[in-house]
Amino acid sequence: MQLKINNVEFGYSSVPVLNDISLDLAGPKFVSILGPNGVGKSTLIHCINKILTPNSGSVFIDGKDVKNITIKELAKQVGYVPYSASDTFPLTVVDTVLMGRHPHSKWGSLDKDLDIVYDTLKMLGISHLAMRPFNELSAGQHQKVMLARGLVQEPQVLLLDEPTSNLDVRHQLDVTKMLKQLSVDRQILIIMISHDINIAAKYADEIILMYQGRIYDVGAPAEVITENNLRVVYGVTSKVIDDNGRPHVILEDAVPMGEEEPASPVMAAAKRAKAEETTKAGEKGEA
Ligand SMILES: Nc1ncnc2c1ncn2[C@@H]1O[C@H](COP(=O)(O)OP(=O)(O)O)[C@@H](O)[C@H]1O
Ligand SMILES: [Mg+2]
Repeated sequence: MQLKINNVEFGYSSVPVLNDISLDLAGPKFVSILGPNGVGKSTLIHCINKILTPNSGSVFIDGKDVKNITIKELAKQVGYVPYSASDTFPLTVVDTVLMGRHPHSKWGSLDKDLDIVYDTLKMLGISHLAMRPFNELSAGQHQKVMLARGLVQEPQVLLLDEPTSNLDVRHQLDVTKMLKQLSVDRQILIIMISHDINIAAKYADEIILMYQGRIYDVGAPAEVITENNLRVVYGVTSKVIDDNGRPHVILEDAVPMGEEEPASPVMAAAKRAKAEETTKAGEKGEA
């Protein structure tokens, strides 16, 4: 399974959010996307699974342009676990997870689909929630259910947007470790957006570090998680120590941010758009 991204550019309006993104990833592999808030991580994932269409450039799954794959076909190959489960219905956990089987379900396949659902709930340690209404669960429980929904999709590529952000440390570790193991067991490509640099560094085969709508660095954790990269990208000073060949970050301080200084292309364009808007509003006001 290969995911190839060629020169993808995207903006929600005239403001560019993704600039010239190119990537070539082949499974089985567990990849983590890191980067500060607002750099375009979620947007990039949305360009892969066709929630968004790039303004230019292409995304290929196994050599096939996703433009030419129907949403239902794509859902068999690309699973997605969204950042928040805001799009939910008053369903039980079982029914919520069962929705993930939709791309595969055929007439008469319900028993098999339910088996897969229950096996997955068990694997995630949430069998006891099966009959609970999804709406009544805690944020961490929501995340595990959404993770289950992504897993029962049995995709070749699984995209996860901060899937552990609401979990306690034990479950963060547990889920991330499980994702790494799944990439091996199922021979799939798993791409996880994360804010936990140390947990990502511990389990990921590869790190994609994003900054200002671009891929700032990509490679093995020890190559990408460096004091210098963290200073530039996150604006923090740190000590990166070696933990059995994996980098481990000890944060020191936030680098003071100049008001005018870090003029990223995205921020500069946003400022220009804002200034134009203000000017236009001003003109209208005068008329
Ligand atoms: N639906 C949207 N409409 C307009 N701008 C958006 C939308 N979603 C995100 N953005 C903007 O695009 C940029 C990247 O957002 P996002 O991809 O969500 O960042 P990240 O996931 O890295 O935090 C941000 O500046 C954000 O404000
Ligand atoms: Mg995001």
